[in-house]
Amino acid sequence: MSNIVIVGTQWGDEGKGKIVDLLAKESDCVVRFQGGNNAGHTMVVDGEQFISHLVPSGILQGKTCLIGNGVVVDPEVLIEEIEYLSKKGVSVGPDNLKISEKAHLIMPYHKALDHAREAAASSKTKIGTTGRGIGPCYEDKASRRGIRFVDLTDDEYIQKARTAAEEKNFFLTNYYSARQVDIDSMLDDLEGFKKRLSPYVADVSVFLDNAIRKGESILFEGAQGTHLDIDHGTYPFVTSSSTISGNACCGAGIGPGKINGIIGIVKAYTTRVGKGPFPTELFDTTGDFIQKKGAEFGATTGRKRRCGWLDTVVVRNAVRLNGLTGLTITKLDVLGGIDEIKICTGYTCDGKRIEHFPANLNVLDNCEPVFETTPGWTEDISSVRSYNLLPEAAKNYLSRIETLTETRIDIVSVGPGREQTIVVHNPFLRP
Ligand code: GDP
Ligand code: IMO
Ligand code: MG
Repeated sequence: MSNIVIVGTQWGDEGKGKIVDLLAKESDCVVRFQGGNNAGHTMVVDGEQFISHLVPSGILQGKTCLIGNGVVVDPEVLIEEIEYLSKKGVSVGPDNLKISEKAHLIMPYHKALDHAREAAASSKTKIGTTGRGIGPCYEDKASRRGIRFVDLTDDEYIQKARTAAEEKNFFLTNYYSARQVDIDSMLDDLEGFKKRLSPYVADVSVFLDNAIRKGESILFEGAQGTHLDIDHGTYPFVTSSSTISGNACCGAGIGPGKINGIIGIVKAYTTRVGKGPFPTELFDTTGDFIQKKGAEFGATTGRKRRCGWLDTVVVRNAVRLNGLTGLTITKLDVLGGIDEIKICTGYTCDGKRIEHFPANLNVLDNCEPVFETTPGWTEDISSVRSYNLLPEAAKNYLSRIETLTETRIDIVSVGPGREQTIVVHNPFLRP
């Protein structure tokens, strides 16, 4: 039995979906614990691509998938995703997908508010949200105006939803001059979603506790990345949930003592979609090369991802904040063909070297990354399946990452396919 948390170490899209799909084979249940359909997790199996936004990435391995209380769920998107997976021949039903009764619903007024705020913001203050209503839904949760799946079991939710919608409509029309939400059709739709999804609703915390008692293994699937965390990320250019490993417990309903390992997914370079600081961002032909070769387009919004060198200040921050027990390096294949690869080892700020990620974005703006350069390789490594067969330059690059982050690399990914993976240490068989 082993319970492992998977988190992104950078700004999301590190390849969490691929690694969760791979490790799900060794586990019994996979649980999402935060975020919503702002996430886009890609899995490629036998050349076929699957993208999931809400259903945990263990679904292709036939494992029980759970959506924890910490997730915010757009019921329409979830129903669409269940249909999309079924059309692709993946069986999804109440037996293998469970939604926490305590998970909050993303309502149409959350999406309307998300859009209206972004449209009204200046180019300096726009966050570049995915527009999925994530922030406004978490706001309602914190202000105790949210609607949970369990609330749909009695009729009080109708008045609750109506009141919440009236309040949002007031803001939408009077403050943002935006279109208001049609409350009656919203309530009709909600009734339909309730009928469709109620067989999936369960007590996820009790389900997980029973699984742990039976000696089963659980994989906790993080969404976004450490630097999009509401507390520890590049605030305010962050998402609205806690994306770090500690929240796996809170967002799934289990205690910290049950966690055995925490794997941080590190893209071999850095990407960011949306606005916000990015110290090692490239604006040259190397950045274009990485963007094209890595097919760096958002899996949720299709936006071009900004690309830059690997930043080990960022990764070290993630090691500390998540208590990482191991790293997985993804997309190493994408760096093949670059003569010299740079790694950011620290920053200089007003002439002083700093090793830690500053919280003040004005300070961060004045920081210059300090790079060291390592030789690149030209070989195509996408069919390499053993660490020893990687080019020496690639091994040196990985070894520098281990040294600079003081953390062991467990897995190296050399392509999007499930099989394009080198498992150096199996996290389920630690140490
Ligand atoms: P996630 O949000 O962390 O699950 O990551 P995304 O799915 O949004 O983005 C990662 C992208 O990289 C997807 O298109 C994956 O199929 C792809 N990918 C994952 N690992 C590798 C890899 O090792 N090499 C290459 N070339 N692509 C990869
Ligand atoms: P996965 O799980 C990359 C970014 C958005 C925006 C900011 C806030 O696929 O790694 P939000 O809609 O959450 O309010 O947007 O966060 N963002 C992501 N970037 N990957 C994600 O998820 C993201 N989820 C949100 O682009 O900058
Ligand atoms: Mg993604």
